[in-house]
Amino acid sequence: YWEDEEALNQECKTLLPSLPKENGWADTQLYQYQGFWYTARSLQGVLTCQKHFQANPDDLFIITTPKAGTTWLKALAFTIVNRNQYSSFNHPLLTSNPHELVPYLEFNLFINNQIPDLTSFSSPRLFSSHLCYKSLPNSIKQLDCKLVYLCRDPRDTFISLWHFTNKLRAKTLGNLSLDEEFEKFCRGVCVNGPIWDHILGYWNESLESPDRVLFLKYEEMKMQPSVQLRKLAKFLGCPFSEEEEKEGMVEEILKLCSFDHLKNLNVNKNGKTKFGVEHTAYFRRGEVGDWVNHLTPEMMKQFEQIMEDKFHGSGLTF
Ligand code: A3P
Repeated sequence: YWEDEEALNQECKTLLPSLPKENGWADTQLYQYQGFWYTARSLQGVLTCQKHFQANPDDLFIITTPKAGTTWLKALAFTIVNRNQYSSFNHPLLTSNPHELVPYLEFNLFINNQIPDLTSFSSPRLFSSHLCYKSLPNSIKQLDCKLVYLCRDPRDTFISLWHFTNKLRAKTLGNLSLDEEFEKFCRGVCVNGPIWDHILGYWNESLESPDRVLFLKYEEMKMQPSVQLRKLAKFLGCPFSEEEEKEGMVEEILKLCSFDHLKNLNVNKNGKTKFGVEHTAYFRRGEVGDWVNHLTPEMMKQFEQIMEDKFHGSGLTF
C-alpha cells in the first residue's frame, strides 16, 4: 500500500512523535490529530491543505466519512453542477471514476506536500474531503462556502469499511478480524474517526446554518432519491427548471449515477486509482442495513448503546 513515513515532509515527521498513535486497520499506523485519526501520509495532506488551500466563495464541497456513500454523492453532485456541458452519451462518468472527477483535498490534491495547480477547475469548483468540521482549511469557513455532508448509519459504515479494508490487504493475509476492528471502531479508532464526532460536528453546523451546510443521509437518498436529488440541486445553486423536470432530467441523472450503472462500467470494473485501489472496491452492495448480516447480537447491543449515548438529545436518529 502507499504509506511510507520516510517520504513525509519535515513538518509531518516532527509532528508525528507527539501524537497519540494506534495500529490502523490495514497495515498502517493511525495518528490522532485535532481529535481525529489519520494515516501518516494523509496527515501530510491534511497539514498541507490546511496551510495552502485557498477557497473561492463559490467553491462547493462534498464531505463524508469514508464509506458513507461518497462515490455516489460525488457522481450526483458533479452531474448536477455540470449538466449543461454533457449529455448521457459523452458524460465523463462513463470513462472516469467519480473520485477522479471530484478530488479529495487531503487525499489527492495536497497529499504530496505540493501546492497543486487548480487553474484547470471551472467555476464553481467541486472538491471533497473527509476532514472533520473543525479541521477544514480556514478559508472554507471564512468565505461561508457551501458544504454538502453525507451521513450513513454508523453500523453500515463499519461493515462497509471492514469489507473495503479487506480488499486493500494482500489476499494472502486473509480478512481482518471483525471483533478486533469492531472494538477499535467503537473506541473511535478508524480513518477519520470517531465517526460519531464527525457526524455531530456537521449535524450541529447544519442546524445552525442550513443555507451553508446541507446534511444528507444515505438511507434517505436510497429511499427517496428524487426528493433528495432536487434538494441537492437547489442547495448547490442550480435547481431543476420546469422544463428539465418535464424532460425527466431527475430520473436521467439518478440512472446515470445508479449503483448498477456505475458498477458495470468498464472504468469501474477494471480501473485503479493512482494509489492502486481497484475501482471495484468502491461498489460492493450499495444497500441499507447489511450490518444485520454481520454483527453478533452482542455487537448490536454495544453499537446501540454507543449511538444512544452519542446522539442522545441531538435530534439525529438512524
Ligand atoms: P457497501 O459497502 O455497503 O456496499 P464510499 O463511496 O464513501 O467509499 O462508500 C462506499 C459505499 O457506497 C459502499 O457501500 C458502496 O457499495 C456504496 N455505493 C457506491 N456507489 C453507490 C451508488 N451509486 N449508489 C448507492 N450506493 C453506492
